[in-house]
Amino acid sequence: MRKNSKLLWAAVDRYFGDLLAPHDEALNAAIRANRDARLPAIDVTPLQGKFLHVLVQITQARRILEIGTLGGYSTIWMARALHKGGRIVSLEFEPRHAEIARANLRCAGMLRRVDIRVGHALASLAELKRSGAGPFDLIFIDADKENNPQYLKWALKLSRRGTVIVVDNVARHGTVIDAKSKESDIVGTRRCLEMMAAEPRLSAAALQTVGMKGLDGFAIAVVLR
Ligand code: SAH
Ligand code: DHB
Ligand code: MG
Repeated sequence: MRKNSKLLWAAVDRYFGDLLAPHDEALNAAIRANRDARLPAIDVTPLQGKFLHVLVQITQARRILEIGTLGGYSTIWMARALHKGGRIVSLEFEPRHAEIARANLRCAGMLRRVDIRVGHALASLAELKRSGAGPFDLIFIDADKENNPQYLKWALKLSRRGTVIVVDNVARHGTVIDAKSKESDIVGTRRCLEMMAAEPRLSAAALQTVGMKGLDGFAIAVVLR
């Protein structure tokens, strides 16, 4: 039963994805480069990338902040939805990931729209605030989950009324419901969700996603004031 439903999720994901999020040569090349470089295969799926792309269009975002670049696959999807003059700041800890992401973005013709900052995201976020960056229109949190509570705090500091904050991987195959878990990523995800619930400046929801990467989900929030 469980095995069958996973196959079904993947098949439906493929059907939707082929229709609504078909890959062109640049997206294929980015995924190929990421796998060839042995980056962890934790890029968003094509449909999740398209979802982010549509979200950029809905919000008409011009300034996007991404925490967790990896090979820039999600970055390409978002960058392609930007209006002229729109920019993404993407934060990445691993210099090697950032280099691969730059190459992928260059290949997709999107590098000019993206500023990849290498370092611990918590340091980069403090530096962004110090230098007067922001407010951002859309913030995508997708790095080390144990720091999600701090990333959410920084996201609020770099926001305005109407900013949309998206947090990736909030369901983690359902492990998120384990209130006793001592795993740092689950603890971080749960604390982040609790903060979203308790924060009067945020209105938040979360949606499970199923598909070729199993069960996961996004949390999404809008800054009210
Ligand atoms: N958004 C990407 C996937 C990001 S994977 C996509 O969907 O295509 C998570 C990334 O966060 C990894 O590249 C990892 O190196 C990076 N990361 C982990 N801890 C970090 C930290 N403290 N600061 C910045 N980046 C971090
Ligand atoms: C995993 C998936 C992700 O999208 C991510 O950002 C981190 C980890 C995972 O499946 O382990
Ligand atoms: Mg993710």
